[in-house]
Amino acid sequence: MLVIIHLTKKFDGYTALEDVSLEVNDGEFVCILGPSGCGKTTLLRLAAGLDFPTKGELFLDGRRIVGVNNECGFVFQEYVLFPWRTVIGNIEFGPEMKGVRKDERNRIAQHYIDLVGLRGFENNYPHELSGGMKQRVGIARAYANNPKLLLMDEPFGALDAQTRNLMQGELLRIWEKEHISALFVTHSVDEAVYLADRIVVMSARPGTIKEIFNIDIPHPRIRTSQEANLIRDRVLKSLGTEIEHARNK
Ligand SMILES: Nc1ncnc2c1ncn2[C@@H]1O[C@H](COP(=O)(O)OP(=O)(O)OP(=O)(O)O)[C@@H](O)[C@H]1O
Ligand SMILES: [Mg+2]
Repeated sequence: MLVIIHLTKKFDGYTALEDVSLEVNDGEFVCILGPSGCGKTTLLRLAAGLDFPTKGELFLDGRRIVGVNNECGFVFQEYVLFPWRTVIGNIEFGPEMKGVRKDERNRIAQHYIDLVGLRGFENNYPHELSGGMKQRVGIARAYANNPKLLLMDEPFGALDAQTRNLMQGELLRIWEKEHISALFVTHSVDEAVYLADRIVVMSARPGTIKEIFNIDIPHPRIRTSQEANLIRDRVLKSLGTEIEHARNK
């Protein structure tokens, strides 16, 4: 699905990512963990075609990524909603750009409004919503675009713990049902162990891939199971070392 080969990204001589190679297979859920500033967002932006590599190549479904394409759905760290569009208007944006008919895109939007729990707020504008609600509009908008690949950058970071758990469950449901592949950045080891087929731990600056963990636990996972605890410990250790390094740099 997504193939990243020897990717290096520099900003004015500063190396943000160095020689990153990674594949996200068809239908696979990959989580990325790493210290702040190690290049996670940069990696997602490159996969989204929002920026270009200094060296290396990226492919989506065998085609080289050379710009933004509408086969990806993005959810970013900050809420990037269209302030002049209502909740439903925001969610309908992707299908609208693809030329989906009005009644059909309304049906799609209504479906995802229910899914993310925004019923009753369809006609509100972003400035009338709480942070968590805005984030849910962003998530619904990404899903409504029927993406092959979901690129998510800490999408649940601003949500309260309860909503976050709910959204994780919903994301898994959609992912399993719609056979989407996902590249998901998080700071939460818990979240990664709950969601991912594979966890990629990145090193401190410059960002490289330090270690990859396979998680073979079937869904739905029990967050406190012994297997989950074991893998969580290993990931925490790996990540902890990198966070230390990042501090001391
Ligand atoms: N457009 C840019 N111009 C210059 N430097 C940039 C740019 N975008 C990112 N950087 C730098 O690249 C490095 C990686 O940034 P990035 O946002 O990818 O980190 P991150 O891993 O997502 O961090 P966080 O966990 O805090 O979100 C940082 O040092 C950042 O300052
Ligand atoms: Mg980031």
